[in-house]
Amino acid sequence: MTSPKNGQKIVGLAPNREHSFYGRDIVSVKQFSKQDLGYIFTVADEMRGIVKRVGATDLLKGYVLANLFYEPSTRTSSSFIAAMQRLGGSVIPIHGVQYSSVSKGESLPDTIRTLECYADVIVLRHPEMGASEIAARYATKPIISAGDGIGEHPTQGLLDLYTIYSELGTIDGLHVAMVGDLRNGRTVHSLARLLRMYDVSLTFVAPEILRLPDDVKGELTEAGRPVREMGRVEDAIEEADVLYVTRVQKERFADLRDYEAVKGCYEITPELMSRAKQRMALMHPLPRVGEIRYDVDDDPRAAYFRQMENGMYIRMALLAAVLGKA
Ligand code: NCD
Repeated sequence: MTSPKNGQKIVGLAPNREHSFYGRDIVSVKQFSKQDLGYIFTVADEMRGIVKRVGATDLLKGYVLANLFYEPSTRTSSSFIAAMQRLGGSVIPIHGVQYSSVSKGESLPDTIRTLECYADVIVLRHPEMGASEIAARYATKPIISAGDGIGEHPTQGLLDLYTIYSELGTIDGLHVAMVGDLRNGRTVHSLARLLRMYDVSLTFVAPEILRLPDDVKGELTEAGRPVREMGRVEDAIEEADVLYVTRVQKERFADLRDYEAVKGCYEITPELMSRAKQRMALMHPLPRVGEIRYDVDDDPRAAYFRQMENGMYIRMALLAAVLGKA
């Protein structure tokens, strides 16, 4: 059986070759068309139905996922594991690379080439921007990025967009405000790039040193989405249909004094939420470290726990799709 990737062999059971996802890497949201997104969201809806009705299926029985994480993770790693298991497949979890041959100095390409001897698909989280693309170049099996440094987090971007659609029933016409560490937050970069395909208004709220990178800004402007930037969340909350809050990414600061100067710059409180629209979605990729107060959690507009659950359905859809079984 040959894979469309490099025309090389892929192990598998009668895959569906009709759809363009079969054998593909997922390394950036830039690779998706609107039609692709519609397809993934439809499959994710089906996955949600399966999980709610029966918990699991054997769609990926016999398939193996290698979950390779060079950076900490709770949601992304465990939702990929749960997704694979609910599809009947199994997982090689490598979450402490200090216990793997990486600690002996093994390179990323060699680690990838090793894991693809045993697995049909590899999920990779890595601290360096572009690492997933490098891995994809060496791998003959699909690579799914679970975040590459301050670059992108494509599967999070997809689950965020899916959540906006699930919460508000549309994407077009919405006003989306993104708040926090827009410079280092890879989830912001992926979501903003996905949103540029829709008729949305975008506001970016960040302290001066954490503003959206120029390349992402340029892509938005080129797509006809003007970039509005401001420093105070109070000035953005009233017109937002979606308030997407992020953590200041401490681990990305070369000088911790810079981090100290901006940490805790935003805090969403019940008082602030009382100024927001009645119908809106408050989102966060999580983990939070003080940006959203716990007493906001009971607000029906607080969508971050539903957002987290959606991640599993999106990842089930992606795993099934790249293995040709969606
Ligand atoms: C995000 C990440 O790793 O980029 N977490 C996640 O995957 N849900 C956001 C973050 O760490 O702040």
